[in-house]
Amino acid sequence: MANILCIGAGYVGGPTMAVIAKTCPEHRVVVVDANPARIAAWQSDRLPIYEPGLDEVVRAARGRNLFFSTEVDRHIAEADIIFVSVNTNTKTFGQGAGKAADLQYWEKAARQILENATSSKIVIEKSTLPVRTAEAMECILNSDSSHGIHFDILSNPEFLAEGSAIQDLEQPDRVLIGGRGTPSGQKAVQTIVDIYAHWVPRERIITTNLWSSELSKLTANAFLAQRISSINAISALCEKTEADVTEVAHAVGADSRIGPRFLQASVGFGGSCFRKDILNLVYLCEHYALPEVAAYWEQVIKMNDYQQERFVSNMVSAMFNTVAGKRIALFGAAFKANTGDTRESPALAVCRELLDEHADVILTDPYALENAAEDLGEQAAHVTFEPDPYAAAAGSHAIAVVTEWRQFAELDYEAIYRSMVKPAFIFDGRNLLDRRKLFGMGFNVYAIGKPPLTHFGAA
Ligand code: UDX
Ligand code: ADP
Repeated sequence: MANILCIGAGYVGGPTMAVIAKTCPEHRVVVVDANPARIAAWQSDRLPIYEPGLDEVVRAARGRNLFFSTEVDRHIAEADIIFVSVNTNTKTFGQGAGKAADLQYWEKAARQILENATSSKIVIEKSTLPVRTAEAMECILNSDSSHGIHFDILSNPEFLAEGSAIQDLEQPDRVLIGGRGTPSGQKAVQTIVDIYAHWVPRERIITTNLWSSELSKLTANAFLAQRISSINAISALCEKTEADVTEVAHAVGADSRIGPRFLQASVGFGGSCFRKDILNLVYLCEHYALPEVAAYWEQVIKMNDYQQERFVSNMVSAMFNTVAGKRIALFGAAFKANTGDTRESPALAVCRELLDEHADVILTDPYALENAAEDLGEQAAHVTFEPDPYAAAAGSHAIAVVTEWRQFAELDYEAIYRSMVKPAFIFDGRNLLDRRKLFGMGFNVYAIGKPPLTHFGAA
């Protein structure tokens, strides 16, 4: 039996530890966080994050071998294995601002471990970190050898996607564990392999050296984001050439070397990882004097920014070059469906740009309005938050679908059309709706990567 601790009760730490606790009943799992409100929510019936299946997993283990606490120091002292899953945002100040990872929370956590440890421990990087961060962590943690305590540092990046976190954790494509080649490092790797082997087939548990593990996480996210930027780049060309991006993606993805997933053209990718991790990769390449490599990956971000801007400029130009004072219903605030998370959400980028154009924005989303209001900050005062999509659409000139919630596909668009100002516009940033049907109802329809369907003749 091991005492497992996770520092950081966020989107990664919470669900991951819940699954470990559920599948390893002999181990004691504690999740700590410096934020008391977050811990209180994990202890309540209303968990701090929305994730299908999470409630059941937490309910199965909480109070049995899964605990949530704010007593960081005490639990560090008791732990054998510590996962560190604290925030690693992009730096907003000083050297590397806007690109490099802000490692202050990680270093703080490391120092806190050092101060409170009374026995040797395995410390695991769960947060995504720049390559060779583990080296700095080893330096800090093993800086004082006088007390005879030894720390083994491992990298065990998390590949879960929000909205499917529980499924991704319970049936992962792979688990990656990186460690030192020393006997003590290898023993630590084996300890963590044994935990995952409770439910993950052994052949899916990949062990590597520390640096490969750290870099694989950044690379996986960069490749995924690159696929989206690639298809989005093609979507712009489709709109000019009467090709249909869905047909192109299907034909391209049918090649087994390419594969069909992650080729859905959209208003752009969001979420807490892609942008941050690619910027981090770019910064690393610049640091190691590889400007061509840095520029290559930076283009993935530039294409994403372009796609979001392009979506709004298409809206403005379709609506007779002005949206000032026009009521526009934004369908979606979350960065994708099935999550309440709005971090880096393209929906909010579109919202901000529409506010800059002096549009009257009504935001609707089944789960993400609270987070959206928080993320929009002062600009939230200029937005109407409306949980009911019918009410959001009523009286508006246009609907823009920016999150692919199933609910939005199942609305009664005949009724919505009747309630809107004419000519009525729909901009589908997710290719979620049946555009021909909407066109038949009277809407002017603009979908990503498809020729517009309008009732304006040559327009
Ligand atoms: C991602 C990675 O998938 C995950 O492995 C990693 O651990 C964290 O980052 P996540 O950010 O939760 O997960 O969401 P993901 O499903 O990857 O979607 C990211 C963004 O890309 C969303 O905004 C989504 O709408 C968009 N997307 C995804 C597309 O625009 N088109 C696609 O084909 C797929
Ligand atoms: P992720 O999406 O990677 O899980 P989050 O930002 O959702 O990241 O969660 C990180 C959590 O880590 C936050 O709730 C934050 O309060 C917590 N945290 C950061 N530093 C510390 C620390 N030193 N001790 C305890 N909790 C911390």
